Amino acid sequence: MRGQYCSSGVFLVLLTIFGVSSAQLPKLMPQEFPEDFIIHVDGGSSNSDTNGTRWAVVVAGSMGYGNYRHQADVCHAYQILKKGGLKDENIIVFMYDDIANNPENPRPGVIINNPDGDDVYHGVPKDYTGENATAANLYAVILGDKSNLSGGSGKVLNSGPDDNVFIYYTDHGGPGIIGMPEGDYVYANDLVDVLIKKYEANAYKNMVFYLEACESGSMFEGLLPTNINIYATTASNATESSWGTYCPDMTPPPPPEYDTCLGDLYSVSWMENCDLSDLRQETLEVQYQSVKWRTENNTYGSHVMQYGNMYQTSDLVSFYLGANDNSSSIESKSPQSILEVVDNRDADLLHLWHKFQRAPAGSEMKQEAKRVLDDEISSRQRIDHNINQIEQLVLGYSSNSVRPGGQALVDDWDCFKTVVKTYEKHCGSLSNYGMKHTRVFANMCNAGISVEQVVAASARTC
Ligand SMILES: *[C@@H]1O[C@H](CO)[C@@H](O)[C@H](O)[C@H]1NC(C)=O
Ligand SMILES: *[C@@H]1O[C@H](CO)[C@@H](O)[C@H](O)[C@H]1NC(C)=O
Ligand SMILES: *[C@@H]1O[C@H](CO)[C@@H](O)[C@H](O)[C@H]1NC(C)=O
Ligand SMILES: *[C@@H]1O[C@H](CO)[C@@H](O)[C@H](O)[C@H]1NC(C)=O
Ligand SMILES: *[C@@H]1O[C@H](CO)[C@@H](O)[C@H](O)[C@H]1NC(C)=O
Ligand SMILES: *[C@@H]1O[C@H](CO)[C@@H](O)[C@H](O)[C@H]1NC(C)=O
Repeated sequence: MRGQYCSSGVFLVLLTIFGVSSAQLPKLMPQEFPEDFIIHVDGGSSNSDTNGTRWAVVVAGSMGYGNYRHQADVCHAYQILKKGGLKDENIIVFMYDDIANNPENPRPGVIINNPDGDDVYHGVPKDYTGENATAANLYAVILGDKSNLSGGSGKVLNSGPDDNVFIYYTDHGGPGIIGMPEGDYVYANDLVDVLIKKYEANAYKNMVFYLEACESGSMFEGLLPTNINIYATTASNATESSWGTYCPDMTPPPPPEYDTCLGDLYSVSWMENCDLSDLRQETLEVQYQSVKWRTENNTYGSHVMQYGNMYQTSDLVSFYLGANDNSSSIESKSPQSILEVVDNRDADLLHLWHKFQRAPAGSEMKQEAKRVLDDEISSRQRIDHNINQIEQLVLGYSSNSVRPGGQALVDDWDCFKTVVKTYEKHCGSLSNYGMKHTRVFANMCNAGISVEQVVAASARTC
């Protein structure tokens, strides 16, 4: 069922979405929440704590009101860090910033990340917004490389050897890539190379990276070294989608005036865990278990993965995210156990469908909404068709084969990048949706095809 989401026609998709009624879901009683995951374990390796500065980089890779949830996630993360005692000068935010004041936003100037949630937009620094939210700027920020920035606030990760760093990213992705609102994708090998450079520059003590995107495991699998003091978790493994939640017509729904999803399943799972826990008592492993449990044991869900230096799992979350002075008074509550979800790639279809449904019958608005929805559907069909055609021309077979676990997506990343760019030059942007197909390109490179073959096939197809 999960696999069909991406490839089926929209009506089947919507039927599937709406066919899942909350009555059919297994309900988990709070007492079924596994106790091991709530009990606090030891106090972490004090070795990783820091008297240095805590730094953070938070990134929403998308734009557009149909992707409301990614920027909402990032604003919420900012509030957690701020409450944890990090200073604005040490928190660097990438987001397109087209949500709070979007004409479609029912609460102008406000962003929420939970149906009952308060505003999370206030105070969020506008470091790299709009055209400045690019992959190149992200790399320059992480490397503390001011000279290589183009636009933005100029704030960079100016961390030193005693400082701990937290990076959080949320958006659409595909095998080996994640999106940015503007310009190039972030490629897995480039991202990991940047992290290795940062390590070699002795520019942090320890780092934690939380990453949500479809196929997010492919960003680190077979790539992230275990000996550079970085511990990472991803929303999904290298071969599956991640999921949006708090969506219209789902349980729990956003307030009725919203026709877009408010959050992502893995993201709200770690952040709501932070909101409800004493981060000076909770280890990264305990947080991981809680997030994994909530993200996996759901109507649909994904496998939350761990990569890098596993010794850091015994560190306290507060080593990285800080801790609210009052947090020890928080009563331990179980988070809401089951959340209905939508494939990250279908969340914007759901949004467009809702706009169409809501528009008054016979109105110009309804016609326009139908046109936009139809365009999106035919654009998706075109992308599926193009990729399929190129695959047949280049490889002569349909190759969705997945390399054995633990291996990186591709060996020759330059080939992979060139093939992605060649496709886009001839056939147009893969778009949020088409990113799901990049494994086909990786398999072409792994099969040793020449770039010329892809150029010829793309030119013939598009
Ligand atoms: C932080 O400073 C305190 C007081 O100087 C010291 O006892 C503690 O060991 C230091 N912690 C770390 C992780 O360096
Ligand atoms: C600037 O970034 C580019 C690519 O992102 C890189 O090739 C180049 O080495 C960087 N320049 C400096 C001075 O680090
Ligand atoms: C991009 O950065 C430049 C330089 O800081 C700034 O003038 C411009 O307003 C920024 N663009 C956006 C959309 O924020
Ligand atoms: C990854 O996810 C897919 C799809 O949910 C699943 O079939 C596969 O077993 C998972 N692999 C790992 C290593 O978790
Ligand atoms: C999901 O729930 C089942 C039954 O309670 C449990 O055995 C399993 O370990 C849980 N999975 C995760 C990832 O926590
Ligand atoms: C702690 O709680 C008090 C009383 O509720 C409140 O005034 C204060 O702002 C809180 N401090 C923090 C850091 O949240």
